[in-house]
Amino acid sequence: MSTDKLDQTLARELEVFNREGRAKPVERVIEKYIPPKPPFGPRYLIADQANEFIRLNSNSYLSLSHHPEVIEAADAASRKFGVGPGAVRFIDGTFIHHHRLESRIARFVDKPAAKIFNSAYTSNCGLALALSNKKTHWIGDQLNHNSIIRAMRISNIPRQNKGIFKHNDMADLRRCLEEVGPEIERVIVIFDGIFSMRGDFAPIKEIKAVCSEYDSRFKDGVITVTDDSHGIGAYGRSGRGTPEFCGAVPDIIVGTFGKAFGVNGGFIAGSPDLIEAVRQKADTYIYTNPLSVADCAAAIKAIDICDSQEGLSILESLETGITQFRKGLERLGKESIPGPHPVIPLMVRNTEKTHHIVDYLFDNGVLAVGLAFPVVPRGDETIRFQINACHTPADIDYVLKLLEAVD
Ligand SMILES: Cc1ncc(COP(=O)(O)O)c(C=O)c1O
Repeated sequence: MSTDKLDQTLARELEVFNREGRAKPVERVIEKYIPPKPPFGPRYLIADQANEFIRLNSNSYLSLSHHPEVIEAADAASRKFGVGPGAVRFIDGTFIHHHRLESRIARFVDKPAAKIFNSAYTSNCGLALALSNKKTHWIGDQLNHNSIIRAMRISNIPRQNKGIFKHNDMADLRRCLEEVGPEIERVIVIFDGIFSMRGDFAPIKEIKAVCSEYDSRFKDGVITVTDDSHGIGAYGRSGRGTPEFCGAVPDIIVGTFGKAFGVNGGFIAGSPDLIEAVRQKADTYIYTNPLSVADCAAAIKAIDICDSQEGLSILESLETGITQFRKGLERLGKESIPGPHPVIPLMVRNTEKTHHIVDYLFDNGVLAVGLAFPVVPRGDETIRFQINACHTPADIDYVLKLLEAVD
């Protein structure tokens, strides 16, 4: 027996992926982090490349992954408790750090309870497993992240128990709610807080207002959920995310420690009963090892920093960088989607041009993500830039000069 025949079939399938332009590029390997050398921020060395690179494609918005106190917290926890949990949570894989992180993130997002997961991806899947039954109906924004789409698929609900509304379109959300059948007892309306490819946000206040009109029609009500993976830590006056920015808090918040907080892991925050249901029913929580104590200790420290005077000044420098980059794009006459989030899309609206600009930036030591056809429809081609707090005015100037020079 061998996998020869299977390998050949897989190779043919992958060839189709390649031909259709859907294949992911070869993964670049970061081999070295080079600390900031004022007036410039940090740089990275990539295998087989001579250049030093500035990362404008990192979700580490607050640049905390190299913060000495965050690293020290991870180190100290590993020295005391070891590097791996040795078991799943319910078989004595629960350490004090898991509990501490759960209360810390619950307090940060102002919910009574939280459960942590290995990622936001598995958090969304776990939430769907915990909340779904034959009388549950899910409604999501058309541009929701893949993890939400996957979560709705694995929730095992009948096909007719799902609705998708046009991006941020309240009339279409209302249409989806009107279509919910009379047998349904529970409706879950789920949406990204910040939409990761565009940097725009869900109008949470309006979504809640629409949902509240329908709440009394269903035994368990209409429950609002935001996955604010790109918002928590980076958005709102004190980094509490899109709910803070919008002045409206959904019933359930999903998020990650792997973006603004610079660590790893995900969470669901909500009522104590919801969190106990997650603990009992979410397979992606129950049957897998939890985060290491190092990850938890680092995430707690990152939240503490975000929630301090230092955090406010990091947010301030992030905002300065965002404003500088946005104003620069405007000055160059480049099209973007307005908004104060560190995800800043450059709307190129042409596939060849998108590839050309991304390659030009790469050749000049800048990492940015290009989204071209067929990943996005023709006309929507974009380059996504992500400003991090470690980017200096000189870094941003450098990138803007490159954008001025390329066409
Ligand atoms: C909205 C959203 N949810 C979830 C994720 C995945 O986060 P994690 O890496 O913690 O699984 C992402 C990341 O791209 C995201 O944008």
